[in-house]
Amino acid sequence: MYRTHKNGELRLANKGEKVTLCGWVQKSRDLGGLTFVDLRDRYGITQLVFNMDTNAELCEKARTLGREFVIQAEGVVAERENKNKNIPTGEIEIDVTQLTILKEAKLPPFTIEDETDGGEELRMQYRFLDLRRNPLKNNLLLRNKVSLETRKYMDSLEFIEIETPYLIKSTPEGARDFVVPSRMNEGEFYALPQSPQTFKQLLMVSGYDRYYQIVKCFRDEDLRADRQPEFTQIDCEMAFVEQEDILQTFEGLVKHLFKTVKDIEFEHDFPRMTYAEAMKRYGSDKPDIRFGMEFNEMNKLVQGKGFQVFDSAELIIGITAKDCAGYSRKQLDKLTKWVQRPQIGAKGLIYVKCNEDGTYKSSVDKFYNQEELAKWAELCQAEKGDLILVLSGETDKVRTQMNELRLHMGNELGLRNPNEFKPLWVLDFPLLEWDEETKRYHAMHHPFTSPKPEDMDLIDTDPGKVRANAYDLAINGVEVGGGSIRIHDKSVQSRMFDLLGFTKEEAEAQFGFLMNAFEYGAPPHGGIAFGFDRLCSIFGGSDSIRDYIAFPKNNSGRDVMIDAPSPIAEEQLKELNLRLREVEVKG
Ligand code: AMO
Repeated sequence: MYRTHKNGELRLANKGEKVTLCGWVQKSRDLGGLTFVDLRDRYGITQLVFNMDTNAELCEKARTLGREFVIQAEGVVAERENKNKNIPTGEIEIDVTQLTILKEAKLPPFTIEDETDGGEELRMQYRFLDLRRNPLKNNLLLRNKVSLETRKYMDSLEFIEIETPYLIKSTPEGARDFVVPSRMNEGEFYALPQSPQTFKQLLMVSGYDRYYQIVKCFRDEDLRADRQPEFTQIDCEMAFVEQEDILQTFEGLVKHLFKTVKDIEFEHDFPRMTYAEAMKRYGSDKPDIRFGMEFNEMNKLVQGKGFQVFDSAELIIGITAKDCAGYSRKQLDKLTKWVQRPQIGAKGLIYVKCNEDGTYKSSVDKFYNQEELAKWAELCQAEKGDLILVLSGETDKVRTQMNELRLHMGNELGLRNPNEFKPLWVLDFPLLEWDEETKRYHAMHHPFTSPKPEDMDLIDTDPGKVRANAYDLAINGVEVGGGSIRIHDKSVQSRMFDLLGFTKEEAEAQFGFLMNAFEYGAPPHGGIAFGFDRLCSIFGGSDSIRDYIAFPKNNSGRDVMIDAPSPIAEEQLKELNLRLREVEVKG
């Protein structure tokens, strides 16, 4: 037996026991007569002690141990003289009687400590070492807990986990597909699934009315802190349900996870808001409702006073930053520059300081007098000491810009507490969104999302206004899940494909299998998928999902540890009947 105990396990109650431990050398200290070694494994740290007086040879051997050597130590549990209250094994140490070096180790390129000296890129390259550190280990333990508790909850409601294929058919849905050439079918390609969407719908037709799967999904899209090219979903589907059933069932899942993972209980139902309201009040379909600073539409109040910027704007929005009237010229200039960055794209920023003496100081004093500014303050619920920030422009753009500014101010003012959790259901998403570039409608969610029955009439007259039975769950401004009630009627599905600009032949070629299946008894059904990595990062209080994935990609979609993607051999290309084209490199 390699070991009798793990390194987080022994206590004073074990005093006198003969034990064998294994692990990695965290650090060693040579104090002349005594040598101490901290032995680490996944479970914790145990102090080993080697005594020059009682066993000089062994002590000499201990002095040769380097950081991260893998060792086995046999000895007796003893009470420590200097107890360490910070670790669970801090009251004991092992008087070592036998030491075996199982494997020497090269010096790691960064310290394996909670606070390491290694940069991000280096740690990605040596991810297997980075994963030895407590912060990452704790993230993976948290991830394991979330998946375990998800399975428990789903099982308790008779959901069954069914795997669906990874080599599927490429469909023009949402993001770009990753494709895989087929050796056996010359000139043809599989695609990796962006989600198991069509398969879970087929399972409903097959009668598995409560399906779920913790599943990898693949999307070739631009990456951000909360986006990876391969990520994990808790993918769910139910038959014989309406929207309300789905919301209740999966609000239950999220509450169960909060209770079991974070010991947080929500006393009330999660609040709900329509998409239209979310856009009007927060300029976002995933508002962070941990703080206020809601939008105030100011058109009526501010137009027609000769200020050209406002007069020519479609929408003028003001928000109130509490207790910020003291912002200096420099701070306001910085904020203005911030909204003018190309990523935000605002032309300028108007401010009103609500001074403590009841007067107002604005950047548009030329156009608005004190009484008028008092009305602005009233509308924006600004009090003495507050600062009003105003943006104007085209409706969609100014809402997006103001959303960014609101979140930025929320960060600046410390209003986005990572230990506070505010879930929100966003409902009634539009069915379609207009794409200026291609001059056609795209499905806002996906092409299988059902329109609201009461909006069916608008499909022919004003498709952009049709609302869908689609919903998202946002937590703290992050979209953690989304889903919809599906179309289960072939004629409505064909109409949807028409609207999306598919010819009958294209629709048949791409989704014929699904439409065909619907003719063999499709139950009413709907579902949702949660971003599993995002849920974990929210529970862990971090913005980056990378920290919760054992082997993530970097922002260019590379795995720098295994160096992928990489070229393949000419032989492999040949076997796949592929030839690489010469591509002209610009610049
Ligand atoms: P959707 O595309 O909204 O829906 O995805 C569901 C959830 O998955 C997470 N997510 C991601 N997480 C990390 N990296 C990514 N690149 C990424 N993309 C999405 C988000 C998102 O809310 N089939 C539908 C679900 C359904 O209708 O049932 C779907 O995939 O948290």
